[in-house]
Amino acid sequence: MRILVTGKHGQLVRSLLETPSAREAVEWLVTGRPEVDLQCPGSLARAIRDQAPDLVINAAAFTVVDQAEEDEAATMRVNADAAGEAASAARDHAIPIIQVSTDYVFDGRAAAAYREDMATSPLGVYGRSKLAGEEQVRAANPDHLIVRTAWLYSPFGNNFVKTIMRAAGQRDVLTVVDDQLGSPTSTLDLAAGLMSAINGLAKGNRTGLGETYHLAGSGRTTWCGLATEVMANCRRLGLDHVDVLPIATADWPTRAPRPHNSELDSGKFADAFGFTMPDWRHSVRNVVERLAADR
Ligand SMILES: NC(=O)c1ccc[n+]([C@@H]2O[C@H](COP(=O)([O-])OP(=O)(O)OC[C@H]3O[C@@H](n4cnc5c(N)ncnc54)[C@H](OP(=O)(O)O)[C@@H]3O)[C@@H](O)[C@H]2O)c1
Repeated sequence: MRILVTGKHGQLVRSLLETPSAREAVEWLVTGRPEVDLQCPGSLARAIRDQAPDLVINAAAFTVVDQAEEDEAATMRVNADAAGEAASAARDHAIPIIQVSTDYVFDGRAAAAYREDMATSPLGVYGRSKLAGEEQVRAANPDHLIVRTAWLYSPFGNNFVKTIMRAAGQRDVLTVVDDQLGSPTSTLDLAAGLMSAINGLAKGNRTGLGETYHLAGSGRTTWCGLATEVMANCRRLGLDHVDVLPIATADWPTRAPRPHNSELDSGKFADAFGFTMPDWRHSVRNVVERLAADR
């Protein structure tokens, strides 16, 4: 299967490229800046037309949540309009599109984990732009799979786990927000989950098309809980580690408001594709071990 994927330097794409089940079965057509710039209308549609893939995965996004508040037009262009154009170009070539979306489409007021059919109500520009991207994809191409994920980290790029490990070598103590709940997700697991859906599509199985799914690490914690788990693994591996102290969101103001609870329930994806995401602690352990080995 030939898969065109956007976001070539992003942590999800780097994880997809090394997913064992994809190595032999997939020819990756990896796109990104400068050749394909989602700020430029028509750029991605041209790439889809020229490369004639069997599937498009739109993993690129303007992901800097606070900066999005400052640059709404650029954020909407990349996360919403370019997604719609990609879906439309895919429909013109009679191929499906997988659109990656986010837990930040929810306002975080739910007491339990979010299911796909619960009401969306984003709190900031990033969440609004990703929700608009979902809507444009649904409207443009019935053969879509929208996959919402959350709190991504990996051995690649910039992410919270790497930031905490770096900070442990520079500070005596870390203070981390302890009143936002979510589902930390390793992009290595997310890539493996996506491949289980893609392998079905490659066999002509249309399961999931036209649907929205959640796919995030099993279980939930706070940013402080995640940082504490990272430090526990660092201590075990003999890496720099420091104490992590809980603080409130009010003590760490950010430009974009964050949902209080954005835990995602991935049960619908497991039922459809037979893939259950590992417990978040298991995956944190794997990624910290890999980062330690790469040092
Ligand atoms: N990170 C999270 O915690 C999180 C949580 C929930 C959902 N998601 C979603 O998951 C997906 C993957 O996230 P990620 O963390 O892997 O992303 P990432 O590491 O931040 O990478 C984003 C990618 O998008 C590309 N991009 C941004 N603007 C572009 C433009 N104008 N033209 C072309 N490419 C552009 C970037 O290219 P450059 O390298 O050229 O900048 C980069 O390759 C995204 O759709 C994101 O919205 C992420």
